[in-house]
This record gives sequence, C-alpha cells and structure tokens, in this order.
Amino acid sequence: MVVLENVSFSYNTVEHSAGVYDINLEILSGQVVILCGASGCGKTTITRLINGLSPAYYPGELKGKILIDGIDSSELTLYELSQKIGSVFQNPRSQFFSVDSTGEIAFGCENTGVSREEIYKRIGRITKDLNMEYLLDRDIFALSGGEKQKIACASVAAMLPEIFILDEPSSNLDLRTISDLKEVIRNWKKQGKTVIIAEHRLYYLMELADRVIYMKYGRIVNDLSIDEFKKIEETQLHQMGLRSVCPVKFEERNDENSNKNNFSFNNISFSYGKRKFIDIPDITVPYGAIVGVLGYNGAGKSTLSFGRSKIESGNRQCNIK
Ligand SMILES: Nc1ncnc2c1ncn2[C@@H]1O[C@H](COP(=O)(O)OP(=O)(O)O)[C@@H](O)[C@H]1O
Ligand SMILES: [Mg+2]
Repeated sequence: MVVLENVSFSYNTVEHSAGVYDINLEILSGQVVILCGASGCGKTTITRLINGLSPAYYPGELKGKILIDGIDSSELTLYELSQKIGSVFQNPRSQFFSVDSTGEIAFGCENTGVSREEIYKRIGRITKDLNMEYLLDRDIFALSGGEKQKIACASVAAMLPEIFILDEPSSNLDLRTISDLKEVIRNWKKQGKTVIIAEHRLYYLMELADRVIYMKYGRIVNDLSIDEFKKIEETQLHQMGLRSVCPVKFEERNDENSNKNNFSFNNISFSYGKRKFIDIPDITVPYGAIVGVLGYNGAGKSTLSFGRSKIESGNRQCNIK
C-alpha cells in the first residue's frame, strides 16, 4: 500500500542537514504500523512524505521513489493523495475548517463533491462506528481535546481513505480518551485499513500494531514485528529513548509529610460564574518539591494552577499557610 524506495529528504534549511535518509519501507495493505524514536528522529517527516505535505507544504529536496497503492506519488496531486490518505495531526485544531462538529465531519466530502445524501449516510455510519453520535451538532470550540481529536478522526474517516496517518494522536489526550482513540484505530483495523501512527506513547497500541519501525537521526534502525518488539526489555527501551509499553501506574501516597517545611492550602474553591468548579479542602506541598498535577481532561488542573491569573478569570477563595 505504501512503498518508500531509497528515499532521502532534506528540508530547505541553511545547512540542508535535517530530514530523513536512505528510507526503504514497504507497508502492506491492512497493516497497523508504529513509527517511533526520540524527538527529531524523523517520524513526522515520514508521515509528511507519505501524505504529500513534504515537499508540497514543507519544501525540501526529495530523492528516491514513493509509491501509494502502486502509483508514484509524484504523479498524484495533493487533492488525489488526500482521497487515498487521511491524516490526523497532533493538534486537531490545526486541521479544522468549521465551527460546528457535523460541518467539520462533512467538510472533506463536500470538497470532493460527494452527494448530500451520501454525506449524511457517511456521517451517520462513521459516528456510530466510532461511538461518537453525542458529538454531532456541537460547537467545536467548546469540545475537550479528546472530543476534538475524535472529530478529526471522523472527518478523515468520512473521506473513506485506504490509509490513515496519525502523528502523535495521543499527545493531548488523557488515559480515558486514549482508550477511545484505541477503539477508533481498532475499528479501522477491522475494516482492513492501513494505519501508520507516529507515537511516543506505545502502550495503547501494543494489541493493535503489527509492526514497529524504530528511527534514529533520520534513519530507520529497526523494523520489527510486534512480537519481536514486545521481547525488548524495559531497560533497553529506555536506552532507545522509548517509553514503556505498559501504562504508568501511580500509587496512593501516605501523607506522612506533615512537617513544618510544607505549604498548606485550605478550602480552595474556584468558580466560573455560579458554578463551583474547584473545591478542595486542603493540599500540602513540601517546600522545594516538584509536584505534578494529574487528572482527566477537564478535571481542573489548569484552573488549579492558573485560576485568577491572566489566563482564567473567576472567583477564587483560598487560605494559604
Ligand atoms: N519544517 C521543517 N523545516 C526544517 N527542518 C525541519 C522541519 N520539520 C522537521 N525538521 C527537522 O527534520 C528532522 C526530523 O524532524 P521530525 O520529522 O519532526 O522528527 P520527529 O517527528 O521524530 O520528532 C529534525 O532534525 C527536525 O529539526
Ligand atoms: Mg513529530
């Protein structure tokens, strides 16, 4: 479905040094492939070479041959490529055109002249498949990060591409929404679609992926079946700059830290308008500690950190000792 033959690409920068080199890759129809490796290793560049954004939008020098479904991609226009390949970017906002969710899902199909009736059919089927009917007819700006990502997935799925390319799709998602994304990918796999995912987070793909491509400094270093990849020890994964293949587990912490070297905050509350959004009886933070604030999308992390700063205005109450 996708073939890269002796492909090298260097961006039009002063040194012409950044890009990818000597890429030979053959991805079969129906495969789910992970592209992984440290930041800057070339994952995104590979996705751009496949979907045509490089060199069309990210100019540079391309050598070698890229075949999409047997056709040399240099003979295809971006318009033709976009019907074969659906791309989902890291930040879904960067691909939205509409202000309402249903319009966004329809947008690609409207551009390619799909009939009105057929668009309605596809929207119905895809939102059912992806279990997201509740997201129809919503204001796109009022959706959470995960909901936006689902709309992005549905809008490319509505074009019925054979290939899906996702670039770090989980980076703005919480654990719960990552498992929704996993179901979306499972659904595409079931339909026999080819799925290519550039990712840092690996654990959620372990039961879906067929193959893992590991890159370093713009080159493919390993091309492994998922079974081979699963045999790699955790310590070696870390040496390779990769994350764990198991979800991170947190242990409940006993708060025996109540010595004098603590900040304590009591009765923290914050309301946007009338709605009390944050209501925390007390938190103790040791001096000099680095504290992570974790929680699902929409749990209140940013409000807790920035409430009543320039970013969020509302009504805050808090006693600090
Ligand atoms: N638009 C661009 N212009 C110039 N250089 C770029 C551009 N995008 C990426 N690069 C460079 O290409 C190399 C590969 O980057 P990228 O494909 O974004 O890696 P990854 O997605 O694995 O983090 C890096 O050296 C990066 O700095
Ligand atoms: Mg990237």
